[in-house]
Amino acid sequence: MWTRRHLLTLADFSREDYHTVFHTALSFQEILRRRNPKVPALQGKVVANLFFESSTRTRSSFELAAKRLSADVLNFSPGTSSLSKGETIVDTARTLLAMGLDILVVRHAQAGVPALLAADIDQHHPGVRVLNAGDGQHQHPTQALLDVFTLAVNHSGSLEGLAGVKIAIVGDILHSRVARSNIQALTTLGAEVHLAGPPTLVPADFREWGVQVHWQLEPALSQARFVMALRLQQERMQSHFLPSLREYHQFYGLTLERLQSCDPQVQVLHPGPVNRGVELASEVLESPCCLVNQQVSHGVAVRMAVLYLLGGGPKETHLEEA
Ligand code: NCD
Repeated sequence: MWTRRHLLTLADFSREDYHTVFHTALSFQEILRRRNPKVPALQGKVVANLFFESSTRTRSSFELAAKRLSADVLNFSPGTSSLSKGETIVDTARTLLAMGLDILVVRHAQAGVPALLAADIDQHHPGVRVLNAGDGQHQHPTQALLDVFTLAVNHSGSLEGLAGVKIAIVGDILHSRVARSNIQALTTLGAEVHLAGPPTLVPADFREWGVQVHWQLEPALSQARFVMALRLQQERMQSHFLPSLREYHQFYGLTLERLQSCDPQVQVLHPGPVNRGVELASEVLESPCCLVNQQVSHGVAVRMAVLYLLGGGPKETHLEEA
């Protein structure tokens, strides 16, 4: 039973919540394969995308997901808005809410902004839902949900099948909201999570999250069924965490040769945007073991699922073709 009002974090997500999203996304994936891949589930509702930080795939994916559910979509661009005239984010959101929104999808460089807006909305517009599309280094729930979906369908087809599976997450964990949301999702589902990267970017404290921490690549990759590479998020680095990108690639970059110590069926994920030749060699990106494009297409079905669940779910709506 889905009872959440907002989707702000995976920290309190239960196994049942993951199952609900997974099975809803599977049915939307089915719908997306139809000749007319559109359903009236959110007809008459308004989904507003408030992206205060740059994004290509997450924003387009939310927009397409909302349109496939027949919602009206409002895209807000902070660069050309009254924010540049000194209006606060809460006041900007209130202005948009006065026009009658149902779901706010929020991305911000500062951790906690989606939760702040949700608290204000709970007081003034209790029917409106907030979805976190990435806040600072904190959380990126829909990215982890689509990653889990991709892992499950490529392994055994079920979430139960991820229990005990070795998954290596490699790169800039410290600055990564994707890593934090994924660690929470994967440990809840019983996967064996190994982190690897330079000590400046993979603090030992992460052991408290129920994962293994390595400062060398080999022990993390050894027999791993999946490897998830993360971008070096230089825009969030406040000092010099790395000698050079070339040196990073030499020690931690994923090449086909390095992947040979993994499980023979190893598959590679990356949330994008990829810095070719830094975290992933081009040959890995072009290889059949690379799931990056699958992640992007699964993103639409998974975002349809969460928009649908937050927007009313099975009670009010049905899934016939529009
Ligand atoms: C990530 C993000 O923005 O957190 N990308 C994404 O949403 N697909 C990861 C990143 O920026 O490296």
